Amino acid sequence: MSTDKPIDKVEDKLYGLLAEYESPGALIEAAREVRDAGYTKFDCHSPFPVHGIDPAMGIKPTILPMVTWGAGITGTGLAILMQTWMNNWTYPWNIGGKPLFSLPMQIPIAFEVTVLLAAFATFFGMWGLNKLPQVWHPLFGNDNFVDKATCHGFFVAIEADDPKFDQEGTTATLEKAGATAVEAVRYETSKKHRALPNGVIAFMALSMCLALVPFAYIAKQRASTSDKPHMHINPNMDFQTKNKPQTASDMFADGRAARLPVAGSVARGELKADDHFYRGLVAGEWATEFPKEITLSAETMERGENRFNIYCSPCHGLTGAGTGMINQRADAVGATATGWVAPSNIGQESFAKQPHGQLFNTITHGIRSMPSYGAQIKEADRWAIVFYLRALQRSAHSTIDDVPAGEKPAIR
Ligand code: HEC
Repeated sequence: MSTDKPIDKVEDKLYGLLAEYESPGALIEAAREVRDAGYTKFDCHSPFPVHGIDPAMGIKPTILPMVTWGAGITGTGLAILMQTWMNNWTYPWNIGGKPLFSLPMQIPIAFEVTVLLAAFATFFGMWGLNKLPQVWHPLFGNDNFVDKATCHGFFVAIEADDPKFDQEGTTATLEKAGATAVEAVRYETSKKHRALPNGVIAFMALSMCLALVPFAYIAKQRASTSDKPHMHINPNMDFQTKNKPQTASDMFADGRAARLPVAGSVARGELKADDHFYRGLVAGEWATEFPKEITLSAETMERGENRFNIYCSPCHGLTGAGTGMINQRADAVGATATGWVAPSNIGQESFAKQPHGQLFNTITHGIRSMPSYGAQIKEADRWAIVFYLRALQRSAHSTIDDVPAGEKPAIR
């Protein structure tokens, strides 16, 4: 068993002693003995993770979870601070009276930042605590170690820096623990052996330079005053020789890109020749009768009520009196002073006297400040709404005599 090679180079330095063991079991046993002998700067090397090696070596649990936890809590706090700062000071925005500060709404961003910082701290913390990246190690200079450490060798290495290290005593300890061989590991202190291979340095330098190219390009383009279009890196199908809707074109005399339908042409199913049903007109006057396509029935009334509640009640209210939610809100914020036009009370007598066709037309085209609903409500539904408006108008002036005899409450 050799202990030391003669010092043949001035810059040679002793790294420590490397002892080889036969099996994982022997390695654990040796680690325990080395630990019990009071060594602290030593490490075990095996081709695969050996269960129980940590306690045998006396390795304390890593502080990495604490690092992760700390970074996570920092992330939560930062995210809440950031959102509070933005929502309450730099850009306060009142959305429907909701509070500016509210924890539940901050949860998604707080969660994201927590996870982000925790993940980064864990990743880089692991590198830092393991002193990575490490491209060179004195043990790499030992042929026996290089041959076996990753396939079938089990090694304990005690560093010469260890306060308890003394070459003879330490060798004895390692041998007593069952080592099959103990070798001194030396390394040259000259830089050459520690440095990254030149190829790796060249590759890193080159990729760093290349990484700057996109930024340089963007910076140049931002400052450029050229009248030529910017470079389009991925043209896809972005540039096509076609006309887009609503654009101009030199091609036609009227300058429009889109062609109008040939005069007098009608799309299939769009003829709408029936003035009564489609426009509420009979011989140019507002229709006073309902069109034959629509008949009064409980079903029609229910449909009319349903459509009215959806489309009209937000402004006109469920009774048609003009007290819908939108108008209530307008009152609350004092909109009338700034030109708010209140929705009409549909129960009013003048509207009760309007012909069916006129009410139909109001729904189709809107009137003054009221928007049109023709695009959203089909003709048959508009007529059903008119039926329902009649019912609302009737109920606006109802008396106790309107209640069927059997349903009248007992008058007390
Ligand atoms: C966005 C709010 C709003 C909605 C929704 C709305 N209206 Fe109106 N409506 C108004 C306002 C405002 C007026 C009064 C317009 C004016 O005088 O400038 C009005 C007026 C009317 C009038 C009186 C027209 C006249 O001759 O003066 C009728 C009838 C009417 N609405 C029916 C309806 C029906 C039916 C619906 C549902 C299809 C409906 N409105 C949906 C706001 C609305």
